[in-house]
Amino acid sequence: MTSAAATSNGPPGPGATELTRIAVRPAGGRPYDVIVGTGLLGELARIVAGRTRAAVIHPRALRTTAEAIVADLRDSARVEAHAVEVPDGEDAKRLAVAGFCWDVLGQVGFTRDDVVIGLGGGATTDLAGFVAASWLRGVDLVQVPTTLLGMVDAAVGGKTGLDTDAGKNLVGAFHQPLAVVADLATLDTLPRHELVSGLAEVVKCGFIADPEILRLLEADPTGVADQRELIERTIAVKADVVSADPREAGRREILNYGHTLGHAIEKVENFGWRHGAAVSVGLVYAAALGRLTAGLDDATADRHKALLERIGLPVSYRSDRWTALLAAMKVDKKARGHRLRLVVLTGLAHPTTLDDPDPGLLVAAFSEVAA
Ligand code: GLY
Repeated sequence: MTSAAATSNGPPGPGATELTRIAVRPAGGRPYDVIVGTGLLGELARIVAGRTRAAVIHPRALRTTAEAIVADLRDSARVEAHAVEVPDGEDAKRLAVAGFCWDVLGQVGFTRDDVVIGLGGGATTDLAGFVAASWLRGVDLVQVPTTLLGMVDAAVGGKTGLDTDAGKNLVGAFHQPLAVVADLATLDTLPRHELVSGLAEVVKCGFIADPEILRLLEADPTGVADQRELIERTIAVKADVVSADPREAGRREILNYGHTLGHAIEKVENFGWRHGAAVSVGLVYAAALGRLTAGLDDATADRHKALLERIGLPVSYRSDRWTALLAAMKVDKKARGHRLRLVVLTGLAHPTTLDDPDPGLLVAAFSEVAA
């Protein structure tokens, strides 16, 4: 790790715990921190103090939290804050919803000095990021992820996006935030299956860059005992990769480990599977492909399935869907022309890309996940 740095500060205020700042320094862009701790409302007010307006884009389910944030920004930061309520989950990532947000920003006279706050899970922060990227060709953005997946992946790194009839995230922009505020207290009320799903991205970062993550999860597959350390380590992996390659010109592709088959499963299942569940099967598949094509050792390959199974994530998929999965993989964003491109490991924490693999090996690797 070279470009991401974590530092700890003293407690930020009453009721709050010590906070950690993980630096993201995107090459050629403005540096920012991912702030991890509990009771971080005061931190948000400090970040936006001095702005005239803030728009808190949030899902219906977080109305009470959004109202508390709006009140705090008005009272302690003297910011004219507005709550902008959008549909829960993936339904927020539609052009019509972005249009609704633009209308609100227009009505309140949102200028280039104002700031959008994305409060919620990955879908909400993707939408809020896109709204911030597009309003007046780009205004400041603070992401406040409230799910494990949002904290360790979606809210960090500046990818924003909408879904269209053609597919998920095909419309979007790179727009790095001013800060990411990850308040661990928001995870206390998160359903267990959401936490389990988010752990797939944590495992991914363990395999591509930080094996200590794997050791911690093998000791406690619930991820609860070492939750904060797991989150901070995973964010540090992402911060490091995004710092080196903010626009996915090369190294950032490694974050797609397990995602080529994962995205294909999501598509074939009409997005009825959780992202983490699909990525989990995708990780086992990528391990099998790494063993067949890149010399990945058996112990590391087998470790994928063993750990994901203990966490409670799926590790197999219907054998009769291979043709549909292969077709979906070919329109993956990493594909080039008609050539497939996947991330595999040559060893633990040694990812590489595999271009245009032998079709026979793709099928052979699938036999290891086929149910
Ligand atoms: N979720 C993968 C990335 O941000 O690049």
